[in-house]
Amino acid sequence: MSETSPKLRAELDGVPTYKPGRPAASGGPLAYKLSSNENPYPPLPGVMERAVSAAGVFNRYPDMACTGLVNELADRFGVPVSHLATGTGSVGVAQQLLQATAGPGDEVVYPWRSFEAYPIITQISGATSVKVPLTADETHDLDAMAGAITERTRLIFVCNPNNPTGTVVRRGELERFLDRVPSDVLVVLDEAYREFIRDAEVPDGIEIYRDRPNVAVLRTFSKAYGLAGLRVGFAIAHEPVAAALRKTAVPFGVSQIAQEAAIASLRAEDELLGRVGSLVGERARVYGALVDQGWTVPGTQANFVWLRLGGRTLDFAAACEAAGVVVRPFAGEGVRVTIGECEANDLFLRAAEAFRKEL
Ligand SMILES: Cc1ncc(COP(=O)(O)O)c(C=O)c1O
Repeated sequence: MSETSPKLRAELDGVPTYKPGRPAASGGPLAYKLSSNENPYPPLPGVMERAVSAAGVFNRYPDMACTGLVNELADRFGVPVSHLATGTGSVGVAQQLLQATAGPGDEVVYPWRSFEAYPIITQISGATSVKVPLTADETHDLDAMAGAITERTRLIFVCNPNNPTGTVVRRGELERFLDRVPSDVLVVLDEAYREFIRDAEVPDGIEIYRDRPNVAVLRTFSKAYGLAGLRVGFAIAHEPVAAALRKTAVPFGVSQIAQEAAIASLRAEDELLGRVGSLVGERARVYGALVDQGWTVPGTQANFVWLRLGGRTLDFAAACEAAGVVVRPFAGEGVRVTIGECEANDLFLRAAEAFRKEL
């Protein structure tokens, strides 16, 4: 038997591993998971019912074209059906975008720190990441991002609001940036947290994309709609891009259960957005309390807050865990804390206050 292992693509060497938010420990004292930006509310009964009924036919493949869901989305957002593409969560669609646009020798520009899947899916595609550091106030440095564009650039991510900082890009600066991007470079507006935005100056990407053929909008059912475990996201883009996303999708990637639950969620939008409203209220409470405690917290328009703790990051995360909340540390940089149930937020605030007093 030969000792040689099968040849694997060299691009895979050193691909960073995606670190999922740690679950809350089971069996021990009460613990809350504030590490994955999930929606703390359980599925709505109507959504659950429709998903369960779809489960009754899971011996069959799902509708590969997601016809029902795509029709519903086209209606909801006032876009042609041909401008929609679905995938296994918006991270799946982001990977489809990479596959459709970039390969070895190409460059992908994005802010950093931002969503941790960007470097992973870029490296897997064979393209090169061009990470543009956030400004001192934790926002996209759009000037530097425009300056980083070369003739090799194929795709640019704008994460609005940005994960993990919660900061936003506003209308004027985004329009000015887009005016500087060559028309053959695709700009992806990743709006995973769109429904949590209350700042009227933050544009809806779907309005921006309409007269810009090189802009695609990424959305997900994982956050505001509470379907993280079902894996369904979508992009809205002009036809050549959307068609390329349909080509690069994993066939039958979105289960019928996910499709039906997504349709039911769109129909229950008022109720779901009411829940988002409560979380936005909690966000204001948590933010205000942290500021009162003396923390510097970037203004957040997402369902999480960011504390830049530098060298104290892991100690802070451990202190939170001891207090009953699991947060998401980025070692040496900071901690991202999801806005969760009131009790979870209270536990977090108490831990933050105690930690602050020790400093
Ligand atoms: C900015 C951003 N984009 C995309 C995603 C992907 O979410 P999903 O694949 O569940 O749609 C996330 C998830 O955390 C995110 O933070």
